Amino acid sequence: MFVSSPALSSNRKAIRALTNRDEAQCVSDMISLLALGKGQREVISAEAAETVRTIRREAVPGIMDRFLAEYGLNTDEGVALMCLAEAYLRTPDAETLDALISDKIGESDWARHLGRAQSSLVNASTWALMLTGKVFRTIPAQADDLASVMHSLVQRLGEPVARTAVGEAMKVLGAQFVLGRSIEEALANAGKDMEEGYLHSFDMLGEAARTADDAKRYFLAYSDAISEIAKHAKDDWPHDNPGISVKLSALHPRYETVNRERIMRELVPRVTALALHAKAANIPLAIDAEEADRLDLSLDVIEAVLANADLAGWEGFGVVVQAYSKRCPAVLDWLHELCRVLGRKISVRLVKGAYWDAEIKNGQVLGLEGYPVFTRKEATDVSYLANARKLLSMTDRIYPQFATHNAHTVVAIENMAPEGVAFEFQRLHGMGDALHEIRRRTDKRPRRIYAPVGVHKDLLAYLVRRLLENGANSSFVNQLMDKSIAPEVIAADPLAGLEAFDTIPHPAIPLPPIFMAKGGATLTAGTSTTPPCWSH
Ligand code: FAD
Ligand code: 2OP
Repeated sequence: MFVSSPALSSNRKAIRALTNRDEAQCVSDMISLLALGKGQREVISAEAAETVRTIRREAVPGIMDRFLAEYGLNTDEGVALMCLAEAYLRTPDAETLDALISDKIGESDWARHLGRAQSSLVNASTWALMLTGKVFRTIPAQADDLASVMHSLVQRLGEPVARTAVGEAMKVLGAQFVLGRSIEEALANAGKDMEEGYLHSFDMLGEAARTADDAKRYFLAYSDAISEIAKHAKDDWPHDNPGISVKLSALHPRYETVNRERIMRELVPRVTALALHAKAANIPLAIDAEEADRLDLSLDVIEAVLANADLAGWEGFGVVVQAYSKRCPAVLDWLHELCRVLGRKISVRLVKGAYWDAEIKNGQVLGLEGYPVFTRKEATDVSYLANARKLLSMTDRIYPQFATHNAHTVVAIENMAPEGVAFEFQRLHGMGDALHEIRRRTDKRPRRIYAPVGVHKDLLAYLVRRLLENGANSSFVNQLMDKSIAPEVIAADPLAGLEAFDTIPHPAIPLPPIFMAKGGATLTAGTSTTPPCWSH
């Protein structure tokens, strides 16, 4: 099942060696790989700042922009909302849900936000949350003010109303990121963007299957979606057609490194079946990147699937690679070598990575020797550009796809790309619309929208990642709508940012072993999170 090649084996060793490499050394390697001159860096930042100005002048902020402007992660209420969203749908019963809402909503000062946001929907959510807060908080009854009239009204209606109000607020937020409840609805909703020349990659919501039944349901959803998307595949080259993105964790309930043998036996045939289906439909299929401790296993799965002789001649297979990972450049080398050995062409979607908070927390909980990801936003930005440059030199085997909502990143790639090299830009549904629409006026490359499809109950994990991404004040999309931040600051050169720091690792994020109890064992971080007593 494994492809026998000394070069591939040494690439895999190089990937593993990077997991724990000193962060400053990794960043120094990325800076050398990027090799951008000062003049070029200044041109890029100036053009990106101009793009920010244009977006601010022309774009109408969406409900999410306005909601997060009001409830960013720098407010207590924003943090309470994130915690609530994270826990809401997996809370088992009404009683626990009431306790959760009471804990997260009751203490916050929602009234402070009322009427401040310019969107009536945001104000409506504020009302819902404020009323809910009052249901759960004991306030002195003052019959003559509006709030207490509302309060007693809601008290009469009872806690189920409050639960419903919070549920509805979550649905309003979630709906911003989903294109349709079914693939048919999503394809219909994609029609206008398709007509305007945008491509799509549909993501059937669902991940981390807990049972064999979940995995089967998600497999069937992917399979049905491929059949539907096939009806819109009109071009010869798969990447000119709409496609699908697949999460391996949705396809097996035991997708963990400790179960490697079982995963190779059971998951590989499922992914191969979907890839063959996509090949027959002539659409692209991309394997999403998930948590860092699954990376090594995912590469085994990818190698085994791609080696299947029946996939020969199809260029639609794609792999997502995360630039916040220290292992990113070595993963690209390995993929390029794998394609060379197998005589294949694939696509690589380069992303910064959506699980940063979880990786930091996980590293601390496990007391890993180091984090698998960078700890400075600027380091991830520089890594993204350095690895973009690498990808742009691998186009004999790899079709690059650059997925980002950051104007500096987009402009830098446009500037770095050698003449005549084919690649595409990508964004998530509900994010980065204005940026890509504006850059498209001067840069005619293909643009693809990653479009989640599914029902509310499968959305939660995805929604929390988007809320964290949009709510974090370091993120581009968060700063974009905050007019108190100058365009030059938002579009600043990340390399200059790194050069200005005293230390490359973030001083507020100490290495994980200090989180271990005194005398407690730390793990030798590698590709597995198995405690040492099991791995030795
Ligand atoms: P920016 O605001 O420039 O960057 C934000 C990112 O910087 C964060 O997401 C994080 O990665 C990084 N970051 C933030 N703080 C720090 C810090 N202190 N230290 C180090 N790094 C930091 N993500 C996946 O993980 N897997 C996928 O399969 C995947 N598929 C995607 C497909 C598409 C088409 C798109 C557009 C995105 C996809 N993503 C995926 C999500 C993607 O990782 C995030 O949207 C992306 O990181 C946001 O980056 P940006 O350039 O838009 O924004
Ligand atoms: C995520 O699920 C978009 O794959 C990315 O967050």
